[in-house]
Amino acid sequence: MAKDKIIARIAGLGSGFPDQELTNFDLEKIVDTSDQWISERTGIRARRKLKDNENNSDIAAKAALSALEQAKLNPMDIDLVIACTNSPDRWMPSLAATVQAKVGINNGAAAYDIITACAGWMVGLEVAASFVKSGQYKNVLVIGSEALSRFLNWQDRTTCVLFGDGAGASVVSAGSPGDPGEILALKVRSDGRYGDILDLPAGGSASPLSQKVLEEKSNFIRMNGQEIYKHAVRSMVSVCKEILESQNLSIDDIDWLVPHQANIRIIDAVGQKLKVPSEKVALNVHKYGNTSAATVPTCFDEYARDGRIKRGQLVLMTTFGGGLTWAGGLVRW
Ligand code: ACO
Repeated sequence: MAKDKIIARIAGLGSGFPDQELTNFDLEKIVDTSDQWISERTGIRARRKLKDNENNSDIAAKAALSALEQAKLNPMDIDLVIACTNSPDRWMPSLAATVQAKVGINNGAAAYDIITACAGWMVGLEVAASFVKSGQYKNVLVIGSEALSRFLNWQDRTTCVLFGDGAGASVVSAGSPGDPGEILALKVRSDGRYGDILDLPAGGSASPLSQKVLEEKSNFIRMNGQEIYKHAVRSMVSVCKEILESQNLSIDDIDWLVPHQANIRIIDAVGQKLKVPSEKVALNVHKYGNTSAATVPTCFDEYARDGRIKRGQLVLMTTFGGGLTWAGGLVRW
């Protein structure tokens, strides 16, 4: 192995959640649902919700500062900010530029958004890792952050119980082979033919906000839950197998699986098909619901900070979301 080979590593992780908690019992007062229905079918017991005076960029900035602190870097050390989100504060400017200003990255660093639904953070990670390995940038801030509560129809019990607000951030830095946090493999896959099974139909240029849109409530997330379930399980299992094969590893070599936290049934099915024992599967869906692009970084962050994921361990990550887009990745923490 060439001594001067540049590798990309996760140098820091951080999370940011709103303080306001909404339990399943709180939801029972809003829609015709029950704690039992939600917990049995999804594993979710609570989620966080932004207050009216809070925005996506607030939690994204909080996560970013925490990741910078762990990486022992200053905001001005960052060369590129990537925000992965479906729920930016505004469609213009980008969430990345808004967070850049909030965090104080006032050095002219590039800043832009990636929209790939729940898969977002891992897509951002692939872009960041490629730039870092090419030598173009040394330190890239990759944020997965969502304010999905603003895009939910709170009268639709089939969707509003599933999602939550939250932000995860990572600093991807240049390093040498074997450095902690080395990103060993990443694969991103998409299939646009199935875009309609999970979408946010209006509010874009094809269907700008109008009185009709508001009346039809088509500016909120729509989902065919059963179709999503099938595609999610199949896609995450297959991309994880691709990752393992590419590294000549078997599933027994893996210390942790950090899967997208959409739903405990999807997570269990992925774990079983990959033959990962449940004690090796990281979970935070019960506390936060599906925070879309934020699920993998926040779950990884929580387990790494409290010492369950230890330095040197192999962490397999996988995610899946609207697009359809899905991804897998392997990190030596
Ligand atoms: N509370 C009570 N009853 C409900 C609720 C609710 N919140 N939501 C739906 N129901 C009712 C339905 O109306 C239906 O009633 P009916 O039989 O009288 O018609 C019944 O429960 C069953 O509805 P289904 O949609 O068939 O429920 P299902 O067992 O498929 O569970 C779920 C729904 C949990 C969404 C499931 O399809 C699933 O896990 N899908 C995966 C999708 C997912 O998690 N998406 C997250 C976003 S995508 C992503 O991040 C990957």
